[in-house]
Amino acid sequence: MLYEANLKRASALAFGLGATLAAAGPCDIYASGGNPCVAAHSTTRALYSSFSGALYQVKRNSDSATTTIAPLSAGGVANAAAQDTFCASTTCLITIIYDQSGKGNHLTQAPPGGFSGPEANGYDNLASAIGAPVTLNGQKAYGVFVSPGTGYRNDNTNGIATGDVAEGMYAVLDGTHYNSGCCFDYGNAETSNLDTGNGHMEAIYFGTSTAWGSGAGSGPWFMADMENNLFSGLSTGQNTGDPSISYRFFSAFLKGQPNQWALRGGNAASGSLSTYYSGARPSASGYNPMSKEGAIILGIGGDNSVSAQGTFYEGVMTSGYPSDATEASVQANIVAAGYATTSLTSGTALSTGSKVSLRVTTSGYDTRYIAHAGSTVNTQVVTTSSATALKQQASWTVVAGLGNSACVSFQSVDTPGSYIRHYNFALTLAANDGTKQFYEDATFCPKAGLSGTGSSFLAWGYPTRFFRHYENVMYIASQGGVDTFDATGSYNADVSFVVSSSFA
Ligand code: AHR
Ligand code: AHR
Ligand code: AHR
Repeated sequence: MLYEANLKRASALAFGLGATLAAAGPCDIYASGGNPCVAAHSTTRALYSSFSGALYQVKRNSDSATTTIAPLSAGGVANAAAQDTFCASTTCLITIIYDQSGKGNHLTQAPPGGFSGPEANGYDNLASAIGAPVTLNGQKAYGVFVSPGTGYRNDNTNGIATGDVAEGMYAVLDGTHYNSGCCFDYGNAETSNLDTGNGHMEAIYFGTSTAWGSGAGSGPWFMADMENNLFSGLSTGQNTGDPSISYRFFSAFLKGQPNQWALRGGNAASGSLSTYYSGARPSASGYNPMSKEGAIILGIGGDNSVSAQGTFYEGVMTSGYPSDATEASVQANIVAAGYATTSLTSGTALSTGSKVSLRVTTSGYDTRYIAHAGSTVNTQVVTTSSATALKQQASWTVVAGLGNSACVSFQSVDTPGSYIRHYNFALTLAANDGTKQFYEDATFCPKAGLSGTGSSFLAWGYPTRFFRHYENVMYIASQGGVDTFDATGSYNADVSFVVSSSFA
């Protein structure tokens, strides 16, 4: 109680002095509670009132140059405008998420483990720098959008709990971005990248996996990944005290100490935390005492399982077992940060209900339009005197994005009910099968053309990838990725299309 009173006094003083002193950040609050942060990661804001150093590093594809992004002021929101300037007319990846705690526990591209990532060397993919735009009290910032295959890790940490030693952690996540794959995690994992047995992890998990535990309803659920199990409560399997989450911004708080752990969560944009579980360690063998190893993972399972997706905005790990009161103060700080959604599109707006044709702009190919031949989506030469059938094949009805209505989907004019989707990163025309996977694979976010001409179409679920023609066939391609169609040459032109009224 005393530290809370002190905190309130400190905040009141800070506000009284005006803008020169920032209010306490989450890690200042944990420190006041006696549980200092030993890792503090965020691409959106400083997590200490005095922090003004690098939040994250981005790398651009045009020349492989890197830059670091810092808060606009000490304790403030990330300077997203600096990223936008640095990444103009190219694509950028988040290469390092710095640890603000001073312990040096930075997160970088996760290495292969029990499972290999999709990079040629078995590493995981890095996240797009533009996949998760948000605002914090009106100021733009970017979160970390984890597609399947993406992951960050640090196997050589400093100050993170090992064995049965107590720790706390929280993460702010996108409660609407998840899947059932293993495992979208943030927290403590193995230093070997291998599954070394029950109790060797203690990490926040978010998603709809039912391979181990589950909660009430159909999910998604916040569970604790303790290795070879996702726990939603005392017992293995379903615990209905763990609710399905429907908040756009979700605060997930996990903590563990000898024979005790707790799952607590709430709306990161308003209100307080609820306790989903607090009590004894699972009785299944290996989880009491724990055998934590102290590596840190983001977006993957302990053995580098890379099938999951989710979005991370900020998170920390602490020493000791924070009190519920300390966590309540941190939750209040998160709410006060003012997380809100912002536009996912830029450039020429595509009105839903309109019918469009999309012309290639690459020199030598610019009489071609995005069309389909059966289920293949390709580019074909089309003119006003082309046959009606071809004109229809090159005409698309714009509808609200099936997977996210802030973006769009393209319905075939000649095959109503069929849409452009990606599958194995090739575009294909397919009938809507009503699945979440279909909706997401059929959702694209229009952006100002990367070349400076027309529009580019970012894959909602894979925001490192744009619509691209390659040898006159359509893909979602990332510049410099592992596939032939990811080739760097003429990338900007190949991903830029001129939108016009449809041929048919
Ligand atoms: O505990 C669930 C998962 O099981 C872990 O994240 C992974 O290491 C193992 O496959
Ligand atoms: O296109 C990439 C992925 O391939 C899609 O998301 C999935 O449906 C398929 O496995
Ligand atoms: O799609 C036509 C051309 O094929 C692209 O411009 C080029 O990247 C590839 O060689």
